[in-house]
Amino acid sequence: MKRLRAAVLISGRGSNMMALAEAARASDYPVTIACVISNRPDAEGLAYAARHGIAAKLIDHREFASREGFEAALDRYLRAEAIDLIACAGFMRVLTGNFVAGWEGRMINIHPSLLPAYKGLHTHERVLADGAPEHGCTVHQVTAELDAGPIILQARVPVMPDDTPETLAARVLTEEHRIYPQALAMLARDIQAKTST
Ligand code: GAR
Repeated sequence: MKRLRAAVLISGRGSNMMALAEAARASDYPVTIACVISNRPDAEGLAYAARHGIAAKLIDHREFASREGFEAALDRYLRAEAIDLIACAGFMRVLTGNFVAGWEGRMINIHPSLLPAYKGLHTHERVLADGAPEHGCTVHQVTAELDAGPIILQARVPVMPDDTPETLAARVLTEEHRIYPQALAMLARDIQAKTST
């Protein structure tokens, strides 16, 4: 079966992108990481991609007068690269409903909480402030509503009494790196099954 071509969207460190790229080295993984796109020039993940022979593309949102202009440039690049799937991995730009509609069912995101709990930013701080007993991460389809699309996979971690946002984030991140490659493969196999009939 032909491997699907994925673009990974990042804004910073890119550790989830690295986990996806690492998984895609297996010959039976259904996805090739075709390119890594950052909206920020200082994203560390861009250098990693370039070093690993993955097309590393900067589309700096500050160079566009509007959100729509930025998204049009992003969409053009994705279509030119014949991308089948988009994986948002620490991509910190909100995408408009118009852009999302063009990639419906083919764009996923990883979020550091057990959605629908703790949508949005600063999830680890908010979990600790609430004294919640557990936390985790979610891979979900991207829809027009922020952090609200259908859930593909989740992983849970305990919250320890002496946790700081940093220790809790690290425990969650280990699980992110485990489930994101699984979820991307699940979506790809699903699409392959639908298109091969
Ligand atoms: C990850 O924890 C990811 O879940 C989170 O940003 C971090 C990116 O790390 N994403 C969001 O908060 C999205 N709203 P990474 O750049 O090392 O993958």
